Amino acid sequence: MTSEHWNQVYDTREPEEVSWFEVEPTVSLELIDVLGVAPEDSVLDVGAGTSTLLEQLGARGHRDLTRLDVSASALTEARARSGWAIHDIEADVTTWVPARRYDLWHDRAVLHFLGPRDALRYAATLRQALAPGAAVVIGVFSPEGPTSCSGLEVTRYDAAQLRGLLGEDFEVVVERRVVHVTPRQVEQSFEWIAARRRRA
Ligand SMILES: C[S@@+](CC[C@H](N)C(=O)[O-])C[C@H]1O[C@@H](n2cnc3c(N)ncnc32)[C@H](O)[C@@H]1O
Repeated sequence: MTSEHWNQVYDTREPEEVSWFEVEPTVSLELIDVLGVAPEDSVLDVGAGTSTLLEQLGARGHRDLTRLDVSASALTEARARSGWAIHDIEADVTTWVPARRYDLWHDRAVLHFLGPRDALRYAATLRQALAPGAAVVIGVFSPEGPTSCSGLEVTRYDAAQLRGLLGEDFEVVVERRVVHVTPRQVEQSFEWIAARRRRA
């Protein structure tokens, strides 16, 4: 089961040991800035793990911050560290039903773990969670990236596939391929997309 796998990862490894660890969520913050996401905007970090992104946004004045993850261990670890009031949701994004809407959907390194059917559910949930005008930032393994991560197979995406997943009602603002260097100095190619949902 997905939650058991991820709980085991977080229960047995230090946050800075995992391949997706980054000292600063630099690309995420850059793209959030390009989209003009404001401190009063609500933010949902999907599959947030123990990332510091929401704390960094808290330090910039954001107050409506939500961390969603399938792993209770990740949420507990992140909550223990965080100085900000962050709302936690323990859920699988493929079955989660949003109870409200958010101004930003952020996902770094989660979508690529989903198979084709779950990716469609993910896209439907994303639409349900975002109002017209809302922003989205997604970063996943590119076709030059790894074929597996954390013992799981992944689906790699190029820019056109990410665009296709979001659909016509999203206006793409940035598409960028970026190399992430893991704590073991392995290079992983990520495809990033930053977009806004059209208002009409
Ligand atoms: C590779 S880690 C990335 C963590 C974080 N986004 C970051 O950049 O540091 C993937 C995260 O997604 C979570 N995850 C995996 N599948 C999920 C799902 N179906 N629903 C919600 N979270 C999921 C895992 O528990 C893990 O925290």
